[in-house]
Amino acid sequence: MTGAHTTTELPALVRTAVAPTLNSDVDWDVFDSVEYRDHNYLSVRDDDREIVRLIRDFFARSGVRNGRGVDVGPGANLYPSLAMLPFCRSLELRELSASNVTWLEQQKPGYDRNWDDFWAIYRVNATYAEVADPRARFRDLTTVRQGTVFRLPTARWDLGCMFFVACSLSTELAEFEKAVRRFVRALTKDAPFATAFMAQSK
Ligand SMILES: C[S@@+](CC[C@H](N)C(=O)[O-])C[C@H]1O[C@@H](n2cnc3c(N)ncnc32)[C@H](O)[C@@H]1O
Repeated sequence: MTGAHTTTELPALVRTAVAPTLNSDVDWDVFDSVEYRDHNYLSVRDDDREIVRLIRDFFARSGVRNGRGVDVGPGANLYPSLAMLPFCRSLELRELSASNVTWLEQQKPGYDRNWDDFWAIYRVNATYAEVADPRARFRDLTTVRQGTVFRLPTARWDLGCMFFVACSLSTELAEFEKAVRRFVRALTKDAPFATAFMAQSK
């Protein structure tokens, strides 16, 4: 998935000269959640609108009801969680960064108004429209837990999302692939899932 976040592509020669940055090289705890949210999600961008429509229709058709959902690396983005809301009896937000964990805990009792614009796109679908109070449902279903994608349990969740995480947690392709494998392995057999990756993320 391209274009959801601003990026600058480095010339290939420069890229090969730069030492790899592994996931453990980065201090994720200082991630500026509010700045990230304000930059990317204060209003609905066209690319996100398209993604929301796609995952809405995909999850609504999936047949999962009353499942256990997970969003891995939610950061300061609630729209993947909202996508899973009608189909879950529980929803875990598994995030590495301490600052993002704090931000998510603050959203839990009553998330910010900007997310209503995302919900308006979801509720075009009848299954989503049946959720009378998405804020209350988000509050009641979600558990925020600090942890890494690399240590997820196996076959724990019935549906899941991982948005712009594997592509941004490392410059090493091997870590990207490992993160994707760990995420998929954490889901039960045939569980529907949605992931997004930004090309040329740095
Ligand atoms: C570019 S942000 C994406 C945030 C959000 N999912 C979105 O769609 O905008 C990358 C996120 O991955 C998280 N992250 C980085 N390394 C991680 C790891 N090993 N396990 C889980 N999350 C990680 C970061 O803290 C951050 O929240």
